[in-house]
Amino acid sequence: MHCLTIATRNPGKLREFRALLGELPLELLLADGMPEVEETGTTFAENALLKARAAAVWSNGWALGEDSGLEVDALDGAPGVYSNRFAGEGTTEAERNLRLLELLAGIPAERRTARYRATICLAAPDGRVWLSEGACEGRILEAPRGTYGFGYDPLFYVVEFGRTMAELAPEVKNRISHRSRAVVETRALLERLCPPARMVHPPSDE
Ligand code: IMP
Repeated sequence: MHCLTIATRNPGKLREFRALLGELPLELLLADGMPEVEETGTTFAENALLKARAAAVWSNGWALGEDSGLEVDALDGAPGVYSNRFAGEGTTEAERNLRLLELLAGIPAERRTARYRATICLAAPDGRVWLSEGACEGRILEAPRGTYGFGYDPLFYVVEFGRTMAELAPEVKNRISHRSRAVVETRALLERLCPPARMVHPPSDE
């Protein structure tokens, strides 16, 4: 395996995958031009699988699909798999954040617990698939803070750092995020499937 197609149109996710998988001897390709995959699944795993399989078929190679989202306890786990579209199709990140704040209006800090979840699916061109999952706990603030990251990051407060995800430098987010936790297993798999070139020792003088 030399190339891995990442099935996403989300520039924030792609940036994070490049940082998280960058050291592997692999060329990460964007699924540029691939027809949009309808996310008809009701779980992160189903949608990750749909995206990874579609990209593996489209590229006739190895592909990675990821589905992720925010689960808010006071909203019974919403927006969940609908995180990207729960304020309506085509809405901006700012509009979705505003909608989330409206839904949580009047709910005190201690009941604003939430988590990000991510499922990554690695798909081989022959149809084999591997799934891995990660989560990251936090709370939803009452107003956005910070400019790093994407999506709900300005509202997602990470208690142990006393900052929102959007106030944490990308290297820090990439150590603690749901995506980085899910990527650990995927990375180990990729390392097995495409080990670095063996070190060749120069001949000794003797
Ligand atoms: P997907 O492309 O259907 O997986 O959309 C996932 C959505 O969940 C994104 O568009 C964001 O709204 C949200 N999301 C997932 N991961 C993150 C993250 O790391 N930070 C902020 N929002 C996220």
